[in-house]
This record gives sequence, C-alpha cells and structure tokens, in this order.
Amino acid sequence: MLFIADSIKQIYTSFEADLLDVSNEDQAESLKIAYLGRKGQVRQLFDTLASMSPEEKKQYGGAINDLKNKLQDALQNKLNQLQEDKSKQEKLSFYDYSLPGRPFPIGHQHPLSLIGQQLYDTFRSLNFTVVDGNEIEDDYHNFEALNIPKWHPARKMQDSFYITENMLLRTHTSTVQVRAMEKMKPPLRIVSINGRCYRRDASDATHYPVFHQIEGLYIDEGLSMADLSGLLVEMMYGVFGREVEIRFLPSYFPFVEPGAETLISCPFCRKKGCQVCQQSGWIELGGSGMVHPQVLRNVNIDPAKYSGFAFGWGVDRLAMLKYGIEDIRMLMDNHIHFLEQF
Ligand code: DAH
Repeated sequence: MLFIADSIKQIYTSFEADLLDVSNEDQAESLKIAYLGRKGQVRQLFDTLASMSPEEKKQYGGAINDLKNKLQDALQNKLNQLQEDKSKQEKLSFYDYSLPGRPFPIGHQHPLSLIGQQLYDTFRSLNFTVVDGNEIEDDYHNFEALNIPKWHPARKMQDSFYITENMLLRTHTSTVQVRAMEKMKPPLRIVSINGRCYRRDASDATHYPVFHQIEGLYIDEGLSMADLSGLLVEMMYGVFGREVEIRFLPSYFPFVEPGAETLISCPFCRKKGCQVCQQSGWIELGGSGMVHPQVLRNVNIDPAKYSGFAFGWGVDRLAMLKYGIEDIRMLMDNHIHFLEQF
C-alpha cells in the first residue's frame, strides 16, 4: 500500500504549490473543492480505504485524516490573510483625497543675499573677479598696508575686537584689496561682495557691531575718477534697476588720494526729495577714491605706471534702502516673520 503514502505526499506538495497562486476568496473556494470537496483528491484517497483490511484502514486512515486537517488549516490561514488584506485595502481606499495637504514651507533668501546676488551679477558681467578675504585679519592687512600706521589717528575710527595684539576681526573689507594685489599682477579687477566686518560700535537703528561691505578695486594704466563714477552707476543700476547720478564729496581715507564720500541721486524720487533721502535728493553710500601711491608701493606695483580706484560701501545700508528696512538690527535678528517678506 505504498502508493497511498506516495499519494499523500504528492497531494500535499501540489496543494502547497496551488495555494501560492491563490489571491482571492473565489480561488480559495475552488482549491477547497478540488482537494477537500466531495469529489476532491482527499475524498478519493478515503475511498481507496474501502478495499483495505481493518489494520490497513487504521494505518492509512489516520494519515489521510492528518492530510485533510493540514489542508484545512492551511486554507483557513490563507482565508484569514486574504480577509486581512482586504480590510487594509478598504481602509486605504477610504482615504479622503480632498483633505487639504500638509503645508510645505519654502525658504526665503535673506535680503542681504538678494542684494548680494544682484551685485554679483553686475560685477561678473563686467568681468570682475569675485574674491573673499579673511574675517580674522592681521594688523598689517587691516591697517599697515593700507597706509594706516600704528600711530595714525584713523585707527581710532575703527576700533575693533582684537584676538591677539596682532590679530583682529577685520574692521573693513579694504583688506581684500591688499590680499588681491599681493597675489595678482595688474591689470586687475576684483570685488568682494558681502564681506562681514566688525567694529566696536554701540548698536542702534543704523549701527551694529557686525555689518557687511562690498569692496571693489580696479588697477590698470590710465584709470580716473570718471571710470570709478561710471562703474558705480552701473552697480546701482544692477540694484535699483535705474540709472542714478554719482556725486563725490572730498573726504579722507589714508589709502586713497583723492578720497571721497560717495553719494547717489535718490533712486526713489529722482532728486525731487522724499522720505528716503530726507528731502535732500541724495543718499550717501560709502567711501571711494584713487588708490594711494604708497599702497601700490606696499604691494610692489609701480605707481608711475599704474593707477586705480577703489570703493567700499555698506551692503546692509543698500538692502535697507532698497527694501525700506528701518532698523539694521532686523537684518541680524532672524525673525521669521520679517524674513518671510522677501
Ligand atoms: N574702508 C573704508 C571704511 O570702511 C571705506 C572705503 C573708503 C573703502 C575708500 C575704499 C575706499 O575702498 O577707496 O570706512
């Protein structure tokens, strides 16, 4: 009666394979009929018992019964699992797609970055090399090389945070002029766009111990203040989108000669007088001038052959003007409601 043991094994194997293909309740029902139904394979095995002796019946009857139980259990497990999948599926398809989505906040560019980008675009289009300096500088690059020796009273206006006797947080970006001229040979055109500077100033609506400057330097043969003026007009066009006039007021900076405070005609009222320019028609924006021969000599450039101009303006001031920001501290405070406006 070995064939019965074989049949049991074979039925079980083929049942397991068929069960893998079952993916819904109808298919499970068909499988049940095929194996456990009245004309199913297991039933047929039971039928063979009829022609056996009582001992054989006992022996094989038990084995067939086991098979039947195993198939029933496996089918039941499969049915349970199908039920579970189905209810999960139902829950999913019940999802209300008309619900509002979760908000996805998008970052904003800081006003200083926005201005920085406009300045960058202008100067790249004019073929200036964009450079960065060091925020921690030595006395030589911050003062000495710029014609401000230790004893010079101009140092007083730029009191700084000293790290050692010789190292300090830079007080202006004019340091990048020196570093550029040490590395590059003229003709050279460089700009540092958003350089962070530090001074021991008490903070109020227009002062803060940390601020930003744009510094430009152009060294070549035969340059004049007229070239400087033209460049500054172009720079303001990039920021305000319209031409402005440039006006120089004689002023003193040890590293330029002549030196000037630089004013632009008010881009908002076109010199008619408004709140922004305090009815004067002009806005003061920073220093500029023709590079002092001594500064050129300090970096081994021959002042008899080359001349050049430089300017250093406050970027915070530009951002405040352009976006109507009344207090410089707002640029530093990181208040989300303020920043979200840009
Ligand atoms: N570095 C000066 C300051 O922070 C500003 C300045 C004046 C920069 C004249 C220049 C310049 O490049 O030519 O007060």
